[in-house]
Amino acid sequence: MAKKTDDRTFNVSVIGLSGTEKDKGPIGVGKSCFCNRFICQVADKYSHDHISVLSQSDFAGRVINNDHFLYWGEVTKTDDGSNFTFHVIEQTEFIDDVSFQPFKTGRTDPYHKRCIMTKVQSAEKLMYICKDQLGMETDSSYEQKIMPDGKLNVDGFICCFDVSQSQQRTLEHQVEFVIHLLNGVLKNKKPVVLVTTKTDEVNERYLKEAEKIVARKEYKNNIPLIGTSAHENVNIELAFMTLAHLIDKTKTRPKIIPFSEAVKQR
Ligand code: GTP
Ligand code: MG
Repeated sequence: MAKKTDDRTFNVSVIGLSGTEKDKGPIGVGKSCFCNRFICQVADKYSHDHISVLSQSDFAGRVINNDHFLYWGEVTKTDDGSNFTFHVIEQTEFIDDVSFQPFKTGRTDPYHKRCIMTKVQSAEKLMYICKDQLGMETDSSYEQKIMPDGKLNVDGFICCFDVSQSQQRTLEHQVEFVIHLLNGVLKNKKPVVLVTTKTDEVNERYLKEAEKIVARKEYKNNIPLIGTSAHENVNIELAFMTLAHLIDKTKTRPKIIPFSEAVKQR
């Protein structure tokens, strides 16, 4: 079928607090689950078990490819008769399972600088599917899809803010980290959406902090806040569509649906 002129492709980078257990606590903020839910159109392909502590050989395999980001693949959504194709990457920090420090091969600049980059490159990098695929990259049960042209120009960012309570990670630390990331993205003049992750387990104090972040004067109401849950599949697509609108103003801006209402609509 001929490609319609209003069909569009968006390259989206998903970012948020990452690092060693000391930085982010024992449980991640939900970046991988968020990407997984968006990419997997089929519910039974959703997994909540993604790892970032790896062996040296898994880190060097073609999926991780000695990078600190994952290529999650592409998905096309149709809206108003136009096709919107999203390529998704997740910026994370992979930790060596021997030293428990971030791998030092490849790019070694700190996460907050690396994750806001608008050009990512990695020759012959394979799409990530699930953690069991690592070390089994050539196994025929895993589809081998290469990141197109070995590079992506990032059009916009989705920044995750975990609103479930974590004992080992302070709220203040996450707030400070996320503000730092948002400032970096805006300095590069790229659009960004802030999503609350794990909103199915929301702690109101955490949610208030997320609301305070987007209300900061310097952001001039330019950062939409969307309450999401990957586990319950709430507002994930809305977050990507809202970002698509910020990137491409010709697209109709979707109405932001509060988490409590979106849950009922499922
Ligand atoms: P790193 O890449 O290691 O920094 O972590 P991450 O940000 O990718 O976090 P990940 O998606 O791996 O999620 C960590 C854990 O958070 C998961 O194993 C889930 O148990 C939990 N989690 C993720 N999404 C949700 C959600 O929507 N609801 C709830 N209740 N828990 C979630
Ligand atoms: Mg992850």
